Amino acid sequence: MYTLPDLEVLRDFNAIAVLTSGGDSPGMNPAVRGVVRAALNNGIQVYGVQRGYSGLLAGDLRVMTSASVRNIVQRGGTILKSDRCEEFKQKEVRKRAIEVLKSNGIDALVVIGGDGSLTGAHLLAEESDLAIIGLPGTIDNDIFGTEDTIGFDTAVNTALDAIDKIRDTASSHERHFLVEVMGRNSGFLATHVGIAAGAEMVIVPEYEVHIEQLGQQLSESRRTGKGSSGIIVVAEGQEPGLTYRLAQQLKQLGEEPRVCILGHIQRGGRPSGHDRVLASSLGAMSVNYLLAGYSDIMVGIADGAIVDVPLDSVIRYRKGLDPKLFELALLLHK
Ligand code: F6P
Repeated sequence: MYTLPDLEVLRDFNAIAVLTSGGDSPGMNPAVRGVVRAALNNGIQVYGVQRGYSGLLAGDLRVMTSASVRNIVQRGGTILKSDRCEEFKQKEVRKRAIEVLKSNGIDALVVIGGDGSLTGAHLLAEESDLAIIGLPGTIDNDIFGTEDTIGFDTAVNTALDAIDKIRDTASSHERHFLVEVMGRNSGFLATHVGIAAGAEMVIVPEYEVHIEQLGQQLSESRRTGKGSSGIIVVAEGQEPGLTYRLAQQLKQLGEEPRVCILGHIQRGGRPSGHDRVLASSLGAMSVNYLLAGYSDIMVGIADGAIVDVPLDSVIRYRKGLDPKLFELALLLHK
């Protein structure tokens, strides 16, 4: 599926640790499996760190065998568990983490997570001589330097399953629904879901919403009979639940939309075939990059090929939503 780079083996490792961090995403398990199996195939010992950076600080490391990752490729969530670790922003705290890794004879770490987790990975690489590789694991697909992230495809499909069901009741009652999807400050999930669901409108944090215009559009489609029911996909933005406020504003304009917040359902479930292949490839390739002497990089996807991107640029730049894709989402329902 992806073009894999040929990498020469230039160094060896005593032991590699792997952890999952931040919001979990479907596909983290096949990624962990990829790291563990590739390391063991190269004769390197592997440790699974429990509960992300918090577990690392607590020294909660477990030796991983081939059997530890048996029968997990199809499971959502992460067998290593995950956590958001605020204290990892402090340099003294990261120093403790480096000591934990070194005292266990570990000389490399693979971090699977979103932008906050990759920031932690970059700082660890800067502040130690450990080899560190990041893998993009988030349903948001908002990470600079990669066109895809582990879990995004599954989350899009989970939202579509829900929206297809909502359409049935929307149509029976001739109602409009505001369906809120995750994605924090980025509209990738909302735009993809909007296009794939044939949504009548998509609202994302990257572009301003004009409520009066939206209200007029809804009443116009009702009046002309063009769309007595419909789906408006709303990205949660900075404030999950903001869609209720939007519905209130539309009520004042004479509309009666219903609200459905999909929330954490989008983070769970069996990873799609696409995410399993993506995660397995990135997991296994992270070990190849380590053996080739790379560190302080993220392994991601560009133009359908596996690539390495300096973690420094991954965390410095913001991945922008393609305006043409967003326009397409709006155009297609006209
Ligand atoms: O980063 C992934 C994500 O699911 C975002 O889409 C969402 O805003 C956030 O995590 C929710 O985080 P938590 O599970 O900590 O509430």
